[in-house]
Amino acid sequence: MSATPTERWNAALMGNYGTPPVTFVRGSGTELFDDAGNRYLDFLCGLAVTGLGHAHPRVATALAEQASTLLHVSNLFVTEPQLEVAERLDRLIRSGPDAPETGGRILFQNSGAEANEAALKLARKFHGRGRHGVVSAFRSFHGRTMATLAATGQPEKHEPFHPVPEGFRHAAWNDLDAVESALSPEVGAILLEPLQGEGGVNPADAAFLQGVRRLCDERGMLLIIDEVQTGLGRTGEWFGFQHAGIVPDVVTMAKGLGNGVPIGAVWATAEVAAAFGPGDHGSTFAGQPLAAAGAREVLRIMEEMDAPRMARERGAELTALLEALPGVTSVRGLGLLLGAELDPEVLAGRTAPEVARACLDAGLVVNGVTPTALRLAPPMTISSGELDEGVAILAGVLAAGSPSAGGATESEGNP
Ligand SMILES: Cc1ncc(COP(=O)(O)O)c(C=O)c1O
Repeated sequence: MSATPTERWNAALMGNYGTPPVTFVRGSGTELFDDAGNRYLDFLCGLAVTGLGHAHPRVATALAEQASTLLHVSNLFVTEPQLEVAERLDRLIRSGPDAPETGGRILFQNSGAEANEAALKLARKFHGRGRHGVVSAFRSFHGRTMATLAATGQPEKHEPFHPVPEGFRHAAWNDLDAVESALSPEVGAILLEPLQGEGGVNPADAAFLQGVRRLCDERGMLLIIDEVQTGLGRTGEWFGFQHAGIVPDVVTMAKGLGNGVPIGAVWATAEVAAAFGPGDHGSTFAGQPLAAAGAREVLRIMEEMDAPRMARERGAELTALLEALPGVTSVRGLGLLLGAELDPEVLAGRTAPEVARACLDAGLVVNGVTPTALRLAPPMTISSGELDEGVAILAGVLAAGSPSAGGATESEGNP
């Protein structure tokens, strides 16, 4: 008998993702299909990536056309698609209140971690030697490269990789006094998510971000906002920092920008961006025509449909549906990046990741982001009917595990 995809995965791939439970072969809008033909509703979007749904026809056409036109020449030459992406991103970043009238500049990268890595290098270059320190928050997540791992405020993730680069300090989330206490003359930048995604779907208080902006202004530090998970409409604004009415010096983004095509970007004010001269940073693939053509079409579609408005409207619907579920004690988050805290009674000894696994078996893709909370990040193109259907699946899974159902923890099979 030939090996299953799971057996081949286990034999051929490194073990850093464990053994994934399902082999997906196809997607369309909110739907995913596995290799046995089972249908799932995707309320996770590949971790907040496919905000326009799977296999968006316009994105697919843009990619196919670019693939048969020009795939790669390197950044030694101008390529057309990245110009419009850079111009649109600058406009969207400066579309919030009090945004600078003068345009900023974009540096393309290939992922979120690379975008943050580049931002950290930019901050060092901007300040020069002696001001390389960075303060970020506990429970933050900024990536898996050595410097972004060091910036990530989860000491347990550092443990196997010491020594991690020095100069990174962490302060309690949403605590301005803690951030101020972590400062010293060598700190040149503060790096924050506007809503901690991996850390449990924890939005920043507007007053916290405004206070950090003030501290940065007073002490000449750069405010770097990591919008890798929150950027491009998902929170109900183009960028999460816009909820607080602040303007960062540097913004990083990735996930939603390519709707699944790997691309990242760093935006910086013109003054900060000027710190990078020829040779200071680079990447063979960054901003290459295929990825940039995908991102260009994604941004065109998002602007046409008013993606932040869709996230706000559908997010309000999803929040109301979740709040009405007996097994959910509270819902947090912004737009379509939500965390549902589960009732310990209904969990009945299960963890949220186990509930997420039961949802998968029942045809709903969600993520257990903490031991007690689910993360939901459906596409901004989702219909009200699909929201109802997905929440009904979750309701069934929660009810099947509750003590009143006899303590059964088996999930239903996916039809
Ligand atoms: C806020 C944030 N920053 C950075 C990253 C790293 O991005 P990537 O996985 O594309 O390297 C992530 C990924 O989850 C993220 O959520």
